[in-house]
Amino acid sequence: MTLPELPGFPVSRPRRLRRTAALRRLVSEVGVRPADLVLPMFVREGIADPVAVTSMPGVVQHTQESLVKAAVAAVEAGVGGLMLFGIPTDKDGRGSGADDPHGVLNVALARLRAELGEDTVLMADLCLDEFADHGHCGVLSGDGTGEVDNDATLERYAAMARAQADAGAHLLGTSGMMDGQVGVVRAALDAAGHVEVGILGYAPKYASGFYGPFREAVNSSLVGDRKGYQQDHTRTVREALAEVALDVAEGADIVMVKPALPYLDVLRAVADASPVPVAAYQISGEYAMVEAAAERGWLDRERIILETLTSIKRAGASIILTYWAVEAANLTP
Ligand code: PBG
Repeated sequence: MTLPELPGFPVSRPRRLRRTAALRRLVSEVGVRPADLVLPMFVREGIADPVAVTSMPGVVQHTQESLVKAAVAAVEAGVGGLMLFGIPTDKDGRGSGADDPHGVLNVALARLRAELGEDTVLMADLCLDEFADHGHCGVLSGDGTGEVDNDATLERYAAMARAQADAGAHLLGTSGMMDGQVGVVRAALDAAGHVEVGILGYAPKYASGFYGPFREAVNSSLVGDRKGYQQDHTRTVREALAEVALDVAEGADIVMVKPALPYLDVLRAVADASPVPVAAYQISGEYAMVEAAAERGWLDRERIILETLTSIKRAGASIILTYWAVEAANLTP
């Protein structure tokens, strides 16, 4: 971008348009609409009451019953969609609960779809980490290195995609960062007759310290990190655009940047280049950071919620996943 040529002071006085609230409202360019917001929700098997996620004040692991209630309330508040994560009682190496129609996530999807029909957009996290005893996003190679086997994982994702679509999800969030995952999921959906079910491709997705509180939220058993498959934050947008190009070529209907606030440069580049709608995920650590500071009285919570969401919109996201979705929907005009 080149700098504009403007008459100098005193002809130019930018403060003229900032003087009153009415003037500021008139020239305002970016806003957040409730329908742009998606609420991520956790549903846990085998609990009698909701369990608080201590590192994310205000967020809970739901029972099937409390999930339905909270989902109905979110839709009534006007949020645009729900993104579901499941926490099973039993985990194994291949994440068997993920594609089991009686698995916690698929049961929840079916219940919500029955309850909400087409009133909202129902999304499901398509990844093995919540269902696998080792906590990784795919199956391990079996050679003792702890490496995630890309192509063996794709077969699991195909099965998971069929199960989630059968359960009634509208959009599947491919969050595992396996190469080729979008294409395999698209083919599996089409072969099963689910041509109308869409894919929200997580591309780019960085191996981030900001996922910290999410580990508690899903009772993760992960040891180590995901640097072998998620992106390195020292790479430039060159790699981010390559990931987007691949996901779009494989059939992603929407692409998502994640995390959001520390990656607004990436988000802007993706938004400028993407032929499909662009979402951003304001993740657990972004949420926890603000909640913790606000609890100490160091930040004005509501102001920061709106400021961060507006910044993510300004950087080019038309859709934002945020744990503040319901509250923000009530804060926006
Ligand atoms: C993978 C997944 C993760 C998140 C969303 N989908 C965890 C990860 O990739 O490590 C993180 C969301 C958050 O931190 O709020 N199932």
